[in-house]
Amino acid sequence: MQPTLHDLEIIARQAGVILRAGYGQHHTITSKSHAIDLVTETDRQSEAFLLESIRNRWPEHSILAEESGAHRGDGSLWYIDPLDGTVNFAHGVPIFSVSIAYAEDGMVRLGVVYDPMRDECFSAERGRGAFLNGQPLRVSQTDALGRALLVTGFPYDTWENPDNNLDNFARFAVRSQGVRRLGSAALDLCYVAAGRFDGYWEIRLKPWDVAAGGLIASEAGALVTNLQGGKDYLSPPQSIVAANPTLHAQMLTVLHQNG
Ligand code: IPD
Ligand code: CA
Ligand code: CA
Repeated sequence: MQPTLHDLEIIARQAGVILRAGYGQHHTITSKSHAIDLVTETDRQSEAFLLESIRNRWPEHSILAEESGAHRGDGSLWYIDPLDGTVNFAHGVPIFSVSIAYAEDGMVRLGVVYDPMRDECFSAERGRGAFLNGQPLRVSQTDALGRALLVTGFPYDTWENPDNNLDNFARFAVRSQGVRRLGSAALDLCYVAAGRFDGYWEIRLKPWDVAAGGLIASEAGALVTNLQGGKDYLSPPQSIVAANPTLHAQMLTVLHQNG
């Protein structure tokens, strides 16, 4: 039995209950690869719950999960981000999500991003559109950068790596209506799907950050590519640009400007 979108929604909402229960509590916060790359016990609880839920019903499937890495199985692959927006969560900022995607034969088929603080469940099945709590989503039709509200994020090695996206941020800041930094890549993409933001880009992400949100944005009408304009935004070195096709072209032009 293959999972359905409803299956993903149910487990995402249940993981969301774990995140909501942990929100605002005292946390044991530890750093991972870099000083600002944090993990809390809630990330781990949410991931343990998701792994168990998937393994109980689909024991043969492969899983790529942020906190515990790759769990090898057959050609069906789940991408799990148990808490996207950990830095916000650890600081008591109520902007974070759980992100779950399901792929077959190398193609993401199902994606769900759940924001437990707003009870917003974004979902998409390939070829069947994108939804927010059951209501269809459509990207904005804003066709000029000067009228666009954009969103982005920054890698965890920003302190030491000059390839840190600050140059792109500066370029867009003086060409758009504004650039936001929400702190959850999965929600950034869903907000593009919902037309709340007109465009999103980011560099050096991980597949679990954007597998679900990328499908949701594209099913809502966004063109979603890597920074070179290619289709693959899940393989390293990962980068992503999402917007309606007209704005997407303008964003790629800015991203390829030097200086
Ligand atoms: C991070 C968030 C953030 C993005 C980072 C991600 P995490 O994920 O999505 O918005 O800018 O690149 O690593 O660590 O909170 O799951
Ligand atoms: Ca993430
Ligand atoms: Ca995470």
